[in-house]
Amino acid sequence: MPLTHTKELFAKALKGKYALGAFNVNNMELVQAIVEACEEEKAPLILQISKGARQYANPVYLKKLIEAAVSVSNIPIAVHLDHGDTFELCKQCIDEGFTSVMIDGSHLPFDKNAELCKRVVDYAHKHNCVVEGELGQLVGAQHDDGEEGGGYSKGGVYTHPDEAVEFVKQTKVDSLAVAIGNSHGAYKFKGTQHLNLERLKAIKKALLDAGLGDYPLVLHGASSVPKALVQEINQYGGKLGEDAAGVPEADIEIARRTGCTKVNIDTDLRLALTAGIRKAFAENPKEFDPRKYLGPARAKVKDLVRHKVKNVLCCAGHAFD
Ligand code: G3H
Ligand code: 13P
Ligand code: ZN
Repeated sequence: MPLTHTKELFAKALKGKYALGAFNVNNMELVQAIVEACEEEKAPLILQISKGARQYANPVYLKKLIEAAVSVSNIPIAVHLDHGDTFELCKQCIDEGFTSVMIDGSHLPFDKNAELCKRVVDYAHKHNCVVEGELGQLVGAQHDDGEEGGGYSKGGVYTHPDEAVEFVKQTKVDSLAVAIGNSHGAYKFKGTQHLNLERLKAIKKALLDAGLGDYPLVLHGASSVPKALVQEINQYGGKLGEDAAGVPEADIEIARRTGCTKVNIDTDLRLALTAGIRKAFAENPKEFDPRKYLGPARAKVKDLVRHKVKNVLCCAGHAFD
């Protein structure tokens, strides 16, 4: 099966009231774990690649890994550029055959963000590629110069419903990432902070009222930072903070029902992989065959993805809708 377009996947997801998991990949074990879980659960899938992932793995290796995944599986798989920061990077990915790109101009003033996004949309649409834009600014790690993920709710600007309408109208972007108190990394909330789901509902309603239909929204920073994984990492020598906290699964459920059609998950994959490796190292200190620690770690990521697609995103069983 060739790569799939997120536009088709979005339309089906909106109709079926489920969300698509957009999982970040950097290496073979992550690709295998995610694809195997989705294949077994018959879940449609978005594999996403950041600029950092391209620098780490080499774009050609990642492309070939995804081609391999597509050829050994039957589920629809889309490939998406996560947080593209320039027109040139987006163009490069479109030219390489990505079926979807994100242009993240969220740090720019509205007009500059819209102008950049429109430029990417114009090029992408001519080349059969779909585009995700972002409006508003996520809080925490993304705009924090400090420790990774340690910014809590420092900074950040919620997406304004009227601006969301204006942005979509001006740019013709295919989906929009929103800022509703979400952030990247393992330290998202302190105390009683959580997502502003009322703002999400207002954005969705404004788009609907403006005649833009059941418009697909994207939730970045959707990892739940499971306590069990944090404890396991720390039990086997890690030093994650006691205050590590993610988006409760109940919030993701509401976001999904409200029209967050693409849900981005990276941190939870990193936690699962790290927990698996740390456990294997601690239990078998004499072992030095990478397969003996990467294998169990890959299995842990697979279990996590299976849980997400079945119980949180509810896209399991929808691969062939
Ligand atoms: O949103 C960011 C993703 O988690 C990708 O992270 O830029 O470290 O690859 P990265
Ligand atoms: P997390 O850090 O919550 O996994 O978010 C990932 C993300 O938004 C990738 O774009
Ligand atoms: Zn993100």
